[in-house]
Amino acid sequence: MFKHETQVKKFLLKWYSVNARILPWRKKANKTLANPYFVFVSEYMLQQTTVNTVKNKFSDFILKWPSVNKLARITEPEILKFWSGLGYYSRARNLLKTAKIINKSFKNKIPRTYDELIQLPGIGDYTAKAILGIGFNKSVMPLDANIERILVRLHAIDQPIIKVKNELKDLANKFISDKYSSNLIQSFMDYGSAICLPRNPRCAICGMNKFCQSYKKNLQLNIPVKFKKKTIKQIKYTRAYVIVNEKK
Ligand code: ADE
Repeated sequence: MFKHETQVKKFLLKWYSVNARILPWRKKANKTLANPYFVFVSEYMLQQTTVNTVKNKFSDFILKWPSVNKLARITEPEILKFWSGLGYYSRARNLLKTAKIINKSFKNKIPRTYDELIQLPGIGDYTAKAILGIGFNKSVMPLDANIERILVRLHAIDQPIIKVKNELKDLANKFISDKYSSNLIQSFMDYGSAICLPRNPRCAICGMNKFCQSYKKNLQLNIPVKFKKKTIKQIKYTRAYVIVNEKK
């Protein structure tokens, strides 16, 4: 039974206050929170693309289209042309469709509820929660690859992540913050990319190794467990023929 959620949350928030990555979409709109439009655009870009690739592209995007209102006025070929280098062009199409819907039906304001967000093109469970949590400080916990890895390591779950998605959702809910949701979500993301790394986790310098069940059992290099696709070997049949010439 894991009972260190409060300590982990406290530790990560403190770590984040010193070590948060400086990323263009995190620029504060007011003193505490990022601009929800920035969070919205960045989450479309970050689907299937690394933070490093997105960084510069994001700043160029905001210079060209600094608000929902500006974005909603462009055409699909314009956004597709801009999107080169990012790939997965359906994200760009969906982003533009969604901007047009927000312009028309939400007075240019990014929706603040899960039910509204989940209806929009290109927004699934993860993205809806990322926008709510990071952009609006709502108490949710989106599960991205970094967060999933930290959770399976902390709990020493020795099954492939894909097999324990429901269990992970329940665990993630225990790490939701009432007051500091935005910072806590981003602290998990940054900790996963700086300390709790996929291949060589930096356990020796990890400030929560005392709570980590994988570290305790020395399983940190085996968890997350890789998912092995069962390959069913095809049985190959061959035939050989012998032609015999009858002796005359
Ligand atoms: N990956 C997805 N969203 C992210 C964010 N807001 N910060 C860092 N990495 C992310």
